[in-house]
Amino acid sequence: MRVNISPMKIDKGIIKEIFWDGSARIDCPPELIPAPGQYLLAHANASDSPIADPVFFNRPAPNGFFSAAPLPASWTLGTFLNLRGPLGHGFTIPVPARKVALIAFDDSPTRLHGLISLALKQNAEIVLLCDTQVNDLPEVVEVQPLKAMLEILPWADYAAMDVARENMNQLKEMLGKKNQVAAHPERQSQGEVQVLIRTQMPCGALAECGICAVMVGQQWKMACKDGPVFDLKELL
Ligand code: FES
Repeated sequence: MRVNISPMKIDKGIIKEIFWDGSARIDCPPELIPAPGQYLLAHANASDSPIADPVFFNRPAPNGFFSAAPLPASWTLGTFLNLRGPLGHGFTIPVPARKVALIAFDDSPTRLHGLISLALKQNAEIVLLCDTQVNDLPEVVEVQPLKAMLEILPWADYAAMDVARENMNQLKEMLGKKNQVAAHPERQSQGEVQVLIRTQMPCGALAECGICAVMVGQQWKMACKDGPVFDLKELL
């Protein structure tokens, strides 16, 4: 099951801090803060570009949230942002899940970070798989390289992945296609696996531009409104 879409809001935010990895602390009204896996579309007030950028949640902050990296390089301290959101379907950790795997397939785990506190609240063990350096993790989170994915998935009763759309074929090859699932039970999670598909989402479903299209089952879906988090079994 995935997070339902929250009522969408339009309001302003401001960048209060920028960090070395390109993430930021953004102050904004609480109703705009996206859940893990959801996003905001943000357009800098003084920008000439007509394109808004997706901003994902990393962790909470007192008057807003810490965004996942990276953000546009032109955004600086004090930049005012026109924000629309929260948009899309985010991650949902099933209530009974006690073994949670967070898998950053081809990037840092920045967009998965917000799930750590949620998993800890339900007393879950957490294994984070990634090939990038990670800081500021609670000690209880075990970090493993991505190559451990096929060992960790059968252990997990819930897994959340982050993968770029162009790397979906690589992920499918590692896991085996749908008709091969029965032949590779050792590669499957015991429970639900959700995948955040990273792609451009310039219109956030407003113009139905189709740039974010993803093949789900036998049909095209829009990552900006039907995702960006999808069930893995629908993607294989
Ligand atoms: S971003 Fe335009 S339809 Fe998804």
